[in-house]
Formats: sequence, structure tokens, C-alpha cells
Amino acid sequence: MHNKIMVALDVNNKAEALTMRDTLADSVGWLKVGLRLFVAEGPSLISDLTKTHKVFLDLKFHDIPNTVAQAIESAGSLGVQMVNVHAGGGQPMLEAASKAAKAFPDMLLIAVTVLTSDTMPKEQALKVALERAKLAKDAGLDGVVCSVHEAAQIKKVCGKDFITVTPGIRWGNQDTQDQKRIADPKMAVENGSDYLVIGRPILQADSPKNAAKEAASMMEEANI
Ligand code: C5P
Repeated sequence: MHNKIMVALDVNNKAEALTMRDTLADSVGWLKVGLRLFVAEGPSLISDLTKTHKVFLDLKFHDIPNTVAQAIESAGSLGVQMVNVHAGGGQPMLEAASKAAKAFPDMLLIAVTVLTSDTMPKEQALKVALERAKLAKDAGLDGVVCSVHEAAQIKKVCGKDFITVTPGIRWGNQDTQDQKRIADPKMAVENGSDYLVIGRPILQADSPKNAAKEAASMMEEANI
């Protein structure tokens, strides 16, 4: 189950990222690098991280089809195992991204459907998320980032092999911080989440390694 955990490396710099990587060691399979860390530290950080872990490059590309396709090629050349685009970019952009990703069979291409910070009403967000998941599936992408609460419905519409990557994971008495629609690791697995993105509950724990192990053992308890 630890191979389904993606730790969001929301830290300040490369030194902190590598320290966390070493602390976690093999208690997690994946590390997620977002805009802040990538803009600050660039490709050299990625090549360090891919030596020990699978890497999800979370840059949410959203541009004209040609530019996004070129960005996907650059991401593939870095050797990351997952990259994402914003489904709001529309069908031509998603198709161009999917075509570019074919050159990297070991890299999963997923789409962000609706940002959790979007102010659209909840029912509308679910409707748009489902429409965009379908669009991503039809364009040949491997899956989406979504909330645990949408994962089961997305699987129903797009098929069980369509990957769901879910942030908003909290358990026990943890602070929910800015996450609105949370779920614990057991619930996430039971709702069909393939990968759990976990940031602060691991990064800010007294023992990040123990927190990761705790999440993995809760995932093992899932009735699936
Ligand atoms: O600290 P926490 O566990 O809330 O971190 C969740 C991670 O998932 C962060 O890196 C955040 O940017 C990312 N994310 C999210 N919601 C989305 C997409 C990405 O929380 N819809």
C-alpha cells in the first residue's frame, strides 16, 4: 500500500526536499513536486528524486496544444512517472498532450478536473469534474486528480482502470487546514482511489516515516 502514497513535497528548497526524501526512504513509493519547488530548483532536483522514488511532476500544464505537447515531452525526458495537465484546456489540448505522452510509456498522464479552490457551487463542480474526466478519458489520458468523494463516480463513468489520484487525506484528529472535502486513507481506498496525495499530515508529523506507515496500514484495512 505504501506504493500508493504520494508525498506532496511542499517544502522550501532542494535541501529540505532531499532531507524529507531520505527521512521517508522506502516508507512511500512516490514523491510529488509542485510548481513552487520546481520553479525554485528545476530539473536537477527531479533527477535526484527519481534515483530513489517515482516522481509525480504536478505542474498542471494549461496552454495551447503545441506548447503543452512540448512541455509533456520535456517532462518525459526528465524521467518522471506521472505528469498532469488541466482538463480545462479543452479537447485539442488534451489530445495533443496524450499524443506527446505516448513516446514515454512509463509515464502516466493525468488531468486536473476542477481546482478545489474554484468557487463554483458543489453540485456544479461535481458535474464539471465528471464531464472533464470523460473528456480526459476520451482523449486517451490515464486518469484524473479528484476528491475521494468524486472517485467512485468517476470510476463508474470512465471505467475502473481510469486512475484516480486524491488529495485531501486526513486521519485521526489531524487539522484539516485548507482542505474542504477530506477522507481518511481507508475511506480513500474503499472509494476507489488509486493514489493518495498526502502533504502536511506527513511533512508536519513528529515522525514523517511513522505517519506514512500509519497511513499505509489504514489503507490495508480497506474492505475492497
Ligand atoms: O498538505 P495536504 O495533504 O493538504 O497537501 C495536498 C497536496 O495536494 C498539495 O500539494 C496540494 O497542492 C495538492 N492538491 C490539492 N487539491 C487539488 C489538487 C492538488 O490539495 N485539487
